[in-house]
Amino acid sequence: MGLTVVNHPLLDHKVTILRDVETSPKKFRELVTEMTMLLAYEATRDLQVEPVKVQTPLTETEGRILANPDIVIIPILRAGLGMVDGMLNLLPFANVFHLGLRRDETTFTPISYYNNIRNLRDKIVFVVDPMLATAGPLTAAFDKIQMHSPLMIKAVTIVASPEGLEKVESEYPDIQVYTAALDERLNDDAYIVPGLGDAGDRLFGTF
Ligand code: PRP
Ligand code: URA
Repeated sequence: MGLTVVNHPLLDHKVTILRDVETSPKKFRELVTEMTMLLAYEATRDLQVEPVKVQTPLTETEGRILANPDIVIIPILRAGLGMVDGMLNLLPFANVFHLGLRRDETTFTPISYYNNIRNLRDKIVFVVDPMLATAGPLTAAFDKIQMHSPLMIKAVTIVASPEGLEKVESEYPDIQVYTAALDERLNDDAYIVPGLGDAGDRLFGTF
């Protein structure tokens, strides 16, 4: 696995407010969208471009456009929904296929409850979920996505744990993971510490 911890003063600033227990769901949603845009900027850095001619009001010149704009965003419900707008702001031509996966809170194993994945052949896939804790749902998502033969899979998260990243590394060494924060550890309830609590609950106000 390639891990990119995206270093940027704005991400540091925003993740600190995101962690704050006093941050409201409205502010939390705004911050997740803003941070996703910053992370997407980095996660799309190696997309291939090809030359095209473009006519400006003054002259013809050569520009560059994406060589493969066949991009799919796969949010893991629920919390991944919070990252969809940020991704689409930068990739407005992308398709969005939803995947419902949550973890059983006693066994921490992933439970699959919705799968809208369509044709992914030769497409570039960005899986988005703000929290990478045990990585059970994320690797279960990779299992489902791999079956559709995409060109490439990348994962974009906001906070990740060392334990979860180790699992991704052992099961999917070729998948690049982008995160704004690499935290200390998981606690006994498999929550990320210091973390930000339950991302789905904080996004949607279901405390
Ligand atoms: C959260 C989050 C991740 C998962 C991360 O989902 O959105 O999918 O936990 O933890 P893990 O890596 O240990 O599985 P949750 O199961 O709380 O469902 P929700 O998004 O519907 O709240
Ligand atoms: N899911 C969350 O939303 N937060 C955590 O810290 C772990 C799993």
